[in-house]
This record gives sequence, C-alpha cells and structure tokens, in this order.
Amino acid sequence: MDQTPDERPSRGRDGSSALLLGHSQQGASLFGQRHGGVGDYLRFVCQTLVCAIGLVDHVVRFGHLVAAVLLGTLAFAALPAYRLELPAPPGHEPGFVDAPHPGLVLSKFSRFKNKILNPKIWLSSPHMGDNELRYVQEAFATNWIAPLGPHVDGFEKDLATCCGVDHAAALSSGTAALHLALILVGVKAGDEVLCQSMTFSASANPIVYQGAAPVFVDSERQTWNLDPETLQAAIEDRMALRGSKPAAVIAVHLYGMPAQMNRIQQTCQHYKIPLIEDAASALGSRYRNQACGSLADLSILSFNGNKIITTSGGGALLSNHEDWIRQARFLATQARDAAPHYQHSQIGYNYRMSNVLAGIGRGQMEVLDARVQARRAHYAFYRERLGSLPGIGWQEEASDSYSNRWLTTITLDPALSGGITREDLRLALERDNIESRPLWKPMHLQPVFAEAPFYGAGVAEELFEQGLCLPSGSNLTQGDLERVVRIIQSLF
Ligand SMILES: Cc1ncc(COP(=O)(O)O)c(C=O)c1O
Repeated sequence: MDQTPDERPSRGRDGSSALLLGHSQQGASLFGQRHGGVGDYLRFVCQTLVCAIGLVDHVVRFGHLVAAVLLGTLAFAALPAYRLELPAPPGHEPGFVDAPHPGLVLSKFSRFKNKILNPKIWLSSPHMGDNELRYVQEAFATNWIAPLGPHVDGFEKDLATCCGVDHAAALSSGTAALHLALILVGVKAGDEVLCQSMTFSASANPIVYQGAAPVFVDSERQTWNLDPETLQAAIEDRMALRGSKPAAVIAVHLYGMPAQMNRIQQTCQHYKIPLIEDAASALGSRYRNQACGSLADLSILSFNGNKIITTSGGGALLSNHEDWIRQARFLATQARDAAPHYQHSQIGYNYRMSNVLAGIGRGQMEVLDARVQARRAHYAFYRERLGSLPGIGWQEEASDSYSNRWLTTITLDPALSGGITREDLRLALERDNIESRPLWKPMHLQPVFAEAPFYGAGVAEELFEQGLCLPSGSNLTQGDLERVVRIIQSLF
C-alpha cells in the first residue's frame, strides 16, 4: 500500500519508532524538520537524554521506596510493645488489648521470606507413580465409580500376593480394619484387650468402640515395639486379677519396624489369645522372611496419605481365614442379608474402599518396592551423616528383620548431647520450614486413656521424651535431605 512520507510512522536514525517514544510530533514542531539533517539528529539526542533521565529517576525512586520500607520496619520493631485501651460500656471497667508487638510483624515477615527461600519439606507426603491416574481414568471410563468394582478385586489380590496371605479385604481405613478385626475375634463389651502403648491412637480406639477396655503394655528398647516379656507378665496379672484372660492382643510395627513377632506369637498361642497385627505402616517390611501383614490371625494395613503407599485414605484387613474375610466384607457393607429387599440381622458398617480409590492403590502397588528402597536410602543417608553426633540413637533393625523405614526416627539423649533436646531439633527444623514430629505419645499418657492400666518400666515415656521423626518421604530430593542434615548439624 502506498504511503506519503508524512503518513509513514516516523523512525529515528537507529530505526527505533519515534512514535513509540511519544515525541515525534513535538520534535517536528520544535526543530521544523521531520526527517534527516541537524534537526533530526538533535531530536534524537534530546529523546535519548529524556529517556536516560527518566530511567535514573525511576531507579532513584525505587531505591527510596526500598529504603523507606526497611527503615520503617526497623523503627517499628524498635518500639516497645503497647496496649490499646478499649472504650468501656457504661458501668464497666475499661478493657485493654495487647496490640501486636512490632517484633511479631518482623517475625511474620521472616516467615514469609522463609517460605520463599526455603520451600516446605514435609514429613511424608503422597508420592504417585506413573499409572495411578490411568487406573482412576479407567474407573471413570467404565463407570465403575460405585463402591465396588474390578479395581477393588485387583487391589485385594495384589495385597494378598504381596503379603503372602490367602485373603484381603480393601476397606475405608486402617482404623476400620482394626475395628472389624476385633469384632471377628469376638471382642465385646466388658472385655480387656492388651495393646502396645507406644503407638497411634487408632490402634487403641476401636477397642473402646466395642465397649471393651484397653490395657497398655510397654515397648522393648531395640525395635521400640511390644515387649514380649512385659506382655506375658501383663497377661498373667490380668488373669489373676479378673479370673479371665484378655480377649485379644494388638501388636504394632512402629514406623515400619517389625516387632519381635516370634515371641509375641508364642505367648499368644500359649494362652490361646487371638493376635492382631497392626501393620498400618509396615507394608513392604519383613520378619524372618515373612511379610508384615501376614504374621498374626488377622492383620491390618493403612493407606492413609502419609503412608508408604496411599490411596488418599484407606486400609485393608488380611488373613488366611477365608471365613473371617468374607464376614469382614459382609459387615463392611452394612451387613445386608441375602434378600432382594434391604434386610439386616446384624449391625453393619460402611467400611468398604471405593473402586476409584482402589485404582490409586493398584498404581501404588507397582511402585511399592521403589518406595521402600528410597526410604531405606534416606535412613542410610541420615545415619551416615548424623550417626557420630553425641547422644543420637536409632531404631535398630534386628538381624532377622527388614524394615521399610517408613519414617527415619532418632532419639536424642540430652545428657550426652550437651543439653540439646529433641525439641531444640524440632524447633530449629520448623524455623527452616521443615516438618518433623515427636514420636507417638504413649497411649497410657493420653488423657483419654488416663484410667487404663499400664504394664511397663518407662521405655515408651523415654522414647516419647527423646524421639523425633525426620522427613522421610520417598519424594524428597538429595537437596532436601542435605538441608535437614545441615540444620541438625548446626546445633551441635
Ligand atoms: C500404627 C497405626 N495404626 C493404625 C492406623 C490407622 O490407619 P488409618 O489412618 O488408615 O485409619 C495408623 C494410621 O496412621 C497407624 O499409624
């Protein structure tokens, strides 16, 4: 398209558009020429100068702004705390409220800065593999959204094979699985159930769901799990006191570490007390070459979000007794009798896992071995880098055990560490935006179980006082682990 010279966009000598600078028309009227010659040259020089001055001005203004914010914050922080007087309604004393201390403002600022510079390191976050989404999409594509379906069947088979048991029922949670286990072995109102004290409350709560009473037993020092000797003493004592034996024993593999199951099994067999294995965090662990999840009359697993594999939320009940697992499935689906209408002869529960979540589980089972390897490698790294610090202790794997090292846990004895406590460690990590957590607070110290009998010699208390779980997720990077180690080392 033809253009007269005056219609064309004006360009400087370097080809840059003068229109963009917004001075083209002004330049033309000032110097009387639009193109070429001295006028054009002077206009170019002037425009460059104006731009340069504008740039310097912006830089100076921004510098002032930054300086003003910094000085203002510092001056504010230097002020003493103050109180605000609240207007008093007639006949009332005036009230006071503490205004936020300036230091608080600074600490919020520092937390904000921390979040940007030091991204959060979680204790144990979900870690999906390549196929979970595919299984979930399959459930959607085939409309197997409703409670049961092929993924539930497949996940149950995968679990049974992995643990070397004949039957598994996929359920809504590990807690639901424990509840059903207690029902299946006949625990009822008025009974007593012996339970490891050093554990999560979900191990013990279902005892109370059944109207039974928990009796807590201490840990041994090597694996931190149920102490077989104390267990035996507790059984004898309860039988002498009540004239009847406990209705069940619950043993836990704490943080994935197998308990001393041989002696526990022998004791339970001797007294003919059903044994329930809480393997909530021990999928992938082994004891004497047998998988955790296969070491008792009934075993439970959890697929809660922080576990070694997760289905977002879920659990499973495993056993070689087909009748028990069939009955568990029946109770978990509202105990519906075989009739065309809804008929019930027993109280039921809504405890089944959905087909969609079981799809996640199937994908997670494909990566279980890799997850175990990653967590064991984290443990080895921590042990190598922190092992020589004074006062540090570890949850030891016995020669006949293989732990999935779900969480790497340490103890810190202040008598040997120069007074540094596990709480010092936890707070230092927290300041750096790193999540760690004290070991479980034993059940016999929990207000809700204050009345429950306890057998032990203070091992669980000591573990709680001194123990800390370190970040252990299989998705942690080498940089994350280095950061954790650096913070801990800096305290010694
Ligand atoms: C030792 C132990 N038992 C039982 C449970 C209960 O499992 P869920 O959260 O799936 O109900 C957990 C879960 O964290 C656990 O750690």
